[in-house]
Amino acid sequence: MTSDTNPRAGQTGTSSLPATDWSKKPLYELIEHIVERHHEYLREELPAIEEKLELMTVRLGEGARGTLGPLLDVFSGMKNELDDHMRKEEMILFPFIERTERSFEEGVPADPPPFGTVRNPIQTMLIDHDSTFDALKQIRQMTNGYTLPGEDREAHEALYKGLEELESDLRIHIHLENDILFPRALALEKDAIR
Ligand SMILES: [Fe+2]
Ligand SMILES: [Fe+2]
Repeated sequence: MTSDTNPRAGQTGTSSLPATDWSKKPLYELIEHIVERHHEYLREELPAIEEKLELMTVRLGEGARGTLGPLLDVFSGMKNELDDHMRKEEMILFPFIERTERSFEEGVPADPPPFGTVRNPIQTMLIDHDSTFDALKQIRQMTNGYTLPGEDREAHEALYKGLEELESDLRIHIHLENDILFPRALALEKDAIR
C-alpha cells in the first residue's frame, strides 16, 4: 500500500484519489482492490468506532452524552446500512460483473443476469451511497467538522480522527464504484450480453 492511497493518512479532497488508473485495469482487479482495501477497512473500523462511541457515552458526563448519543445513533445507522450494502455488492453485483467480464474475455456469450440488467442492482447501490453521504454529512455537522470540543478534548481526539479517516476512505471507495466500476460494468454488459 502506498501512502498516496492510504486513507489512514487522513487526507481529504481530490489529492487523495488513488494514483492507480483504474479505468484501464481489468474489472476483477478493481473489485479485488475495493473488497480488500475498502470493505476490509470498513469491517475493522466500523465496529471499532462504534465501540469507542458507546464507551464514551457511558464514561463522559451528561454534556458529552447529549451530543454523543445522537452521533452514536447516526453512526450505528450508517454502519448497519454499510454492512448490508457490502454484503449485497460481494454476493450479487460483484460476482456478476466478474462472470460477465470472464465470458467477454473468453469470447463466449455471457448469461443474462437474474436481475434483468446490471442497471438494477447498480441503481440500488447508488441510492445506498447517497444515504451514506447523507450520514457522513450529518456526522460532519454534529462534530463541527471534526473540531474538538472545549471539554474532554483528549477523549474525543481518537474518535474524531477515526471518523475523519473513515469519511476520507468512504469518499475514495464510493468514487471508485460510482465513477469507474459501475459505468464500466454497464458498458461491459452492453458488449458482452447479446
Ligand atoms: Fe463497496
Ligand atoms: Fe458501494
